[in-house]
Parts: sequence; structure tokens; C-alpha cells
Amino acid sequence: MSNLLHDIQTAVAYIRQRIPTPITTGLILGSGLGDFVNEITIDAEIPYEAIPNFPVSTVEGHSGKLIAGAIGDKKILAMSGRFHYYEGYSPQEVTLPVRVMKLLGVETLLLSNAAGAVNSSFQIGDIVLITDHIGLAIVNPLVGKNEDIFGTRFPDMSEPYSKVLTTKAREIGKQLGLELRSGVYFGVTGPSFETRAEYKMIYRMGADVVGMSTVQETIVAVHAGMRVFCASVVTDLGIREEENIITHEDVLQAARAAGPKLSALFKELVKAI
Ligand code: HPA
Repeated sequence: MSNLLHDIQTAVAYIRQRIPTPITTGLILGSGLGDFVNEITIDAEIPYEAIPNFPVSTVEGHSGKLIAGAIGDKKILAMSGRFHYYEGYSPQEVTLPVRVMKLLGVETLLLSNAAGAVNSSFQIGDIVLITDHIGLAIVNPLVGKNEDIFGTRFPDMSEPYSKVLTTKAREIGKQLGLELRSGVYFGVTGPSFETRAEYKMIYRMGADVVGMSTVQETIVAVHAGMRVFCASVVTDLGIREEENIITHEDVLQAARAAGPKLSALFKELVKAI
């Protein structure tokens, strides 16, 4: 058994003793969904530090715990806080929790994140349903020995984000009176925000938003046969011609402001799965 698989299985064994499994719906609560935990009827919480081989989140604004509970009568497993490549973790470490979720029974993974918009029709606070991604500027987390128990060496990526789930989310958005955008997410490593030239390039390459998370998680989830849904909150505008200084605080504030809308969407989506 590879070291990676051993690490994953050790974490799974630890978690299984503490929460009821299997749970088929998983969430990674990124920026904008910090308060979503208030919507969960919590059965059990495990701080990341306690889980063997789990990385520990280092970035301000991202707390770290695994939460098992329910939204309505749907059982869910939620990661409050995620890991980013820019924190210094390997792509395998960043995505370890996704594989742990898979072995705990998760079949559908819902992600949220904060992103900068490069599509000039988007505004700060917009919620964007991610329909596809461009991951050529990040390190593919499947590089290295293929873990055959999860999936094949060369996984198909023609539908990384489930059309069924994005369609459902659009319907829910209509019912809730939320205006939702759709777009392509461009993954970057960060931690520096993009230069003006980079934002322009990202737009020209076919993306609508850009961010420092998600793509590695999606690749690992799709490799393992999971259905993925992702919504981004636009926290800054990358292609403004005028002054365009972006700070982490601005990003967190914009993400928090969009929180109630995003929470409402995720809550109804979880129930509808
Ligand atoms: N670029 C990259 N990542 C981000 C941005 C951005 O403009 N905003 C929030 N996350």
C-alpha cells in the first residue's frame, strides 16, 4: 500500500469511530459559506488537528473542523475550512480530505470559494455557478503513482461540474429570487493576486473568474467518480482599468456579505440532492 493510501485510510478509520457513516453528501465550505455551519444540525465535530494525517489550515479566515450533521433530514459531512496549495501543502495533501470523504461514502461534493471576476459583466457579490475550469496553471494532484482504488490513470474531465446539479441550482436560484451567473473558473496557485496582465490573459483564455482553490479538489473528486458542484462568490474585479488594489480583507468582507445568499442556495441544493 502506498504511503498516501495508508495516510488516507488511517484518517478514515479515526473519523469512522467518531461519526455515523456512510454519508453521501459532502461540502467544502470555502469563503462565503463560513456561516453555513449555523444551518447544520450538528451530530459530531472533529477539529482537523485531531485527525491523523489531516493538514492543519493556516490561513486567517479559514477555521478547521470536520462536521457531521444534517440539513433538514439530509445527512452531510462538511469541511469548515479547506487547504490551499499556497500554504505549502503538496497537491496530495490539499486533496487528502476529498479522498477521505470518498472512503466515508461521499458521492456528491459541493464546493464554494471566493474568486476574482475577469468577466467584465460580473459584479462584486455575484454568485457564479461554475460550469468548467482551466487547471493548466496549477499542479495536477494526480501526478505520481495512480491510486487505482479511486480511479483510472487518465480520467475523463469532460464534465467536471455536474450539469444535473448546476441545473438544479439554477432552478433553486429562481425559486429563491437569486440572480445567479454561470462561468468558467481559472485555477491559480496564489498567494499573490494576479497582475493586470495576468487577469487579462485569464479572460482571454476563456475564464470568467479566477481563484486559488477548488481545481485540485475537483480533479481528485472526479477521478474518484464523485459528482461535483461549485459556486463562487465574486469578491473582486480583476480587469478594472482604474485603481485595482485587492486585499485579503476585501475578499473576506465581500465573501461574508454574499454569505446569506450562498447559504440559502446550498441549503436548498443539499435538500434537493
Ligand atoms: N485572484 C485569485 N484568487 C482570488 C481572487 C483573485 O482575484 N479573489 C479571490 N480569490
